[in-house]
Amino acid sequence: MAVLEVYEYPHPVLKKKAVKVEKVDDALRKLMDDMLETMYSAVGVGLAAPQIGQSVRVLVIDYEQEEDENGNRIKGNPRYFVNPEIIWHSDEKVCGEEGCLSVPGQRAEVERFEKIRVRYLDYDGKEQEVLADDFLAIVLQHEMDHLDGILYIDRISRLKRNMLLKKLAKFREEEKEDNYCLLYTSPSPRDMRR
Ligand code: NI
Repeated sequence: MAVLEVYEYPHPVLKKKAVKVEKVDDALRKLMDDMLETMYSAVGVGLAAPQIGQSVRVLVIDYEQEEDENGNRIKGNPRYFVNPEIIWHSDEKVCGEEGCLSVPGQRAEVERFEKIRVRYLDYDGKEQEVLADDFLAIVLQHEMDHLDGILYIDRISRLKRNMLLKKLAKFREEEKEDNYCLLYTSPSPRDMRR
């Protein structure tokens, strides 16, 4: 398995509609394994393939991660979704705070369906359905949006988005300064992560 680069806003791959997967084979399973490892390394709970530059309809989720003795995230309950489709959703919506590895350091309130039913192919290519509510419903909708080129910041008001993008620019400036200092103090890039 390998840790891949996570593409960040405003990379154009994040705006693209991803294509359907034709077949779940070993190459795709390798991609899903790498996505999972990348997600653990970046301390996220979900990751969609466009976020690692692959414009295909694949996503991974694990919000029951555990920590090993070195404080690294390890597998809890990984879920794999290939070609996921919402086939039903509740009328009720819920509001919750979301963040995204492609929009680092930021969060905002987003409205989502409270419950959804999703049809997808699993890690072995078998067709499955899940009735998702609570956190799974929200994470799934967030990740499925990535497959259609939509970020959660596209679902908030223009005013809030502009404020958030200003904060993102500031966050990146501060990170650059931190990295610059660390070049002279610490050789380990892992230590730079907050
Ligand atoms: Ni995201």
